[in-house]
Amino acid sequence: MVNIKINGQEFEVENNLTVMQACEKYAGSQIPRFCYHDKLKIAGNCRMCLVEIKPGPPKPAASCATPVANNMEIFTDSEMVKKARGDVMELILMNHPLDCPVCDQGGECDLQDQAYIYGKDKGNFCHDKRAVVDKYMGPLVKTKMNRCIHCTRCVRFINDVAGFTEIGSIGRGVETEITTLENALSSELSGNIIDLCPVGALTAKPYEAKARPWELTKTRSIDVFDAMGSNIVVQTRSNEVLRVLPDLNDDINEEWISDKSRFAIDGLANQRVDTCFIARNKVIQPASLEDAILNTDKIIKSSSNIAMITGKMTDMETIYLHKILAEKINCKYYSCIENGGDFDTSSRGNYIFNTGFKGIDKADFILIVGCNTRKDAPVLNARIRKASILGAKVVIADENRDLKLNASFLEPNISSLTDILNNKSSVSKALKDAKFPMIILGSDIVTKDEKLHSLTLEIAEKFFIKDDWNGYCFLHKNIANVGGLDLDFNTKSATKIMEMAKAGEIDCLILNSTSDIDTSLVHNNCKIISFATNGDDSLRRSSVIFPSLTYVEKSAFYTNSEGRIQKTTKACEIIDNRFDECQILCKIIANIDSNFSAKTRSDVQMKMLESLENKEINVQKSRAILAKKCDKIDENISIASTVYNFYMTDSISRNSRNMANCVREILLIKK
Ligand code: SF4
Ligand code: FES
Repeated sequence: MVNIKINGQEFEVENNLTVMQACEKYAGSQIPRFCYHDKLKIAGNCRMCLVEIKPGPPKPAASCATPVANNMEIFTDSEMVKKARGDVMELILMNHPLDCPVCDQGGECDLQDQAYIYGKDKGNFCHDKRAVVDKYMGPLVKTKMNRCIHCTRCVRFINDVAGFTEIGSIGRGVETEITTLENALSSELSGNIIDLCPVGALTAKPYEAKARPWELTKTRSIDVFDAMGSNIVVQTRSNEVLRVLPDLNDDINEEWISDKSRFAIDGLANQRVDTCFIARNKVIQPASLEDAILNTDKIIKSSSNIAMITGKMTDMETIYLHKILAEKINCKYYSCIENGGDFDTSSRGNYIFNTGFKGIDKADFILIVGCNTRKDAPVLNARIRKASILGAKVVIADENRDLKLNASFLEPNISSLTDILNNKSSVSKALKDAKFPMIILGSDIVTKDEKLHSLTLEIAEKFFIKDDWNGYCFLHKNIANVGGLDLDFNTKSATKIMEMAKAGEIDCLILNSTSDIDTSLVHNNCKIISFATNGDDSLRRSSVIFPSLTYVEKSAFYTNSEGRIQKTTKACEIIDNRFDECQILCKIIANIDSNFSAKTRSDVQMKMLESLENKEINVQKSRAILAKKCDKIDENISIASTVYNFYMTDSISRNSRNMANCVREILLIKK
C-alpha cells in the first residue's frame, strides 16, 4: 500500500494501481479517456487523461499510464489540467470531421460528450483537415477513417483479445492511419471493436443510419446463441430488434459478445412461422390454433410409440412441459440434446462447467478435449487466450485447429487420453504439478461414444479435482442443454431416437424448435408435430406446425454451461398469430389430463422452479463429479472436434442475411 493525496484528500491505496484507477476507486473522480479501456492493455497515446502530479516535472502526466507512488500528490481539476485537456481536445478535433449529424455514433460518442466539456468554441487551426481513405473490414464493421483519433483500441482488441493480426497502425504523426489487410475480419468477436471505438470511425454496417440511440428501448436480457448465456442489452424500436449490445458481467462474458449474438438478429423476423399449419392431403395449409391442437390430440392418441426432441434454444419451461406431456402419454424416448449424446447425469458436476467461466482466470493448466472453443464459445475462448498469455499452459487434444491460443497439441485419439490416465504422458506429470488444472470437454465427446464421458470423468477424478478446486469443465454447444439435463429430459440420445424414427419404430415425433434434425429421413408412417420460430426445409415433413416465440419475445429461463440459471426479458410484443409455446403445450396437456391446471408461462415457471428446488440445483451446489470405472473403448474413435459453420447453427442465424454475408465473405471468398 502507498499513501497518496488526491485533490488534497489523503488515501492509502494499493501500489499496483495506476493514477487513473486510484482516482476513480478512492476519490470518485471521473477522468476522461479515449485510449484507456479496463479490458485492454494500456497504450497511453490519446493524452486525454492528463492530471497534475507533484513532485515531478511541471507538466501534466497521463494518469492511465502512470503508476501510483508513495507521497504522490494528484490534482484532477487544477487549471493546468483543464488547460491541458482543452488543448488535447483541440488537437484531436483538428482533424476530426464535423459530421456528427450524419454519424451513427451521434448521441453515444465519447468524443462528442467530452467535446461538450473540454472543447473550445474556436480553434487555432486554419488549414484543411486531412483526409483518410476508408478501410474494408467486412460485412459487419463499417469504417469512416476520417473520424479515427488513433486511440488503437481496435488494434489492441483484435491483436490481444481476439488473437488476430488483421488491424494495425501505419505512419507517424499526422500520417498515422489505422489499416487492415483489406479483407473481411476473420474474428468471431470482431463486432466488439464497434463498441470499443470511442468515435464514429467504426460502426455497425447492418445498423447503418437505422436509428438514433435515444429512439431505442433498451431491455437487459440473455443471449441464447451459445451455451454461455452472455448478458446482453436488446435495443428495439416499434417492436423491431435493431441492435444487440453486450451487457457487463465479469463472471460470464466480461463485456464482449460474439458476432452471431450481435448480428444474427435480422434472422428473427425472416421466414417467421406466424400461424399454425396442418398438412391436408400432404399440403401444408394455415390453420387455427384450435384445429392444430385437435389434430395433435388425434395424432398423439392414435400413436403408441412417441418420441420428443427439443432444440438448441428451447427454454426450460417448454422442456419442463414436454416432460410432463411425456409422462402423461407414456412417451419413453426424449432428448434435450439435439445433436445427440448419452450423458452420465449421475451428478450435476458431470455435465457443467464446474469452475464457472471465471475459474479460467485462475487455472494454470488447461487441457481442451473434443471442443473447438473458438467456434463453440468465442467469448470463452478469449478468456482462455488471456489465461494463456498470463502464463497458463494450454494443451489441446484435437486436430491442429487454429484456436488463437498459445498451445501445444496431442493426437486426437483415445490413447492420448488413456496415456494421461495411466501416467504414460508428459501431460500427466504437468497435471500433477499444476495447482489449478482444468479440463474443458466439448459435447462432441459424448456424441461419439458415451464411454468417452466416463473416461474423461475418470481422468478428472485423478488429476483435476482437489480439495478446494473442481477443474472438470463441460462446455456445451447449446444453451438448452444444461437446463434440459437438470430437468432430466434425456432418456435417449437424439441420434438414437432418429435411428428409431428412420426404422419406423416411432409413430409420432414431436420436435420443438430443432434445427439440425433431418426429417426427410423419417419413416413415412411416422407423423411429425413441430414447433418452430422460423421456417426451414425440415418443416415440410410435419403434420402439424405450431408457431413459437424467439428469445426476445418471452421472459424465459435458460441455464448456461456453468449451471447458472438466468432469465431473458421480453423485449418485443407477440404479434400476428404467434403463440407462446408454453400456452400451446398447456392446452395439449389439458386435453389429455383435464386436471392439469397451468395455463400460462408464469404458472409453469412456478412449478418448474419448485421441481428444481427439490433437486437442490443452483450455481453453488452439486459441483462434485461422480466417476464410474470406464468400460473398454474402441481405440479407433477420433476425439477431434467437429467442423461446422459458426455463422449458421440454428434456424435464426440461418435466416440471417448478415450471417449469410459473413459466410460468403469470411468463409468462402477469404478461403
Ligand atoms: S478506429 Fe476507432 S478504435 Fe480504432 S484507433 Fe480509430 S478511433 Fe480508435
Ligand atoms: S486515456 Fe490515458 S493516454 Fe489515453
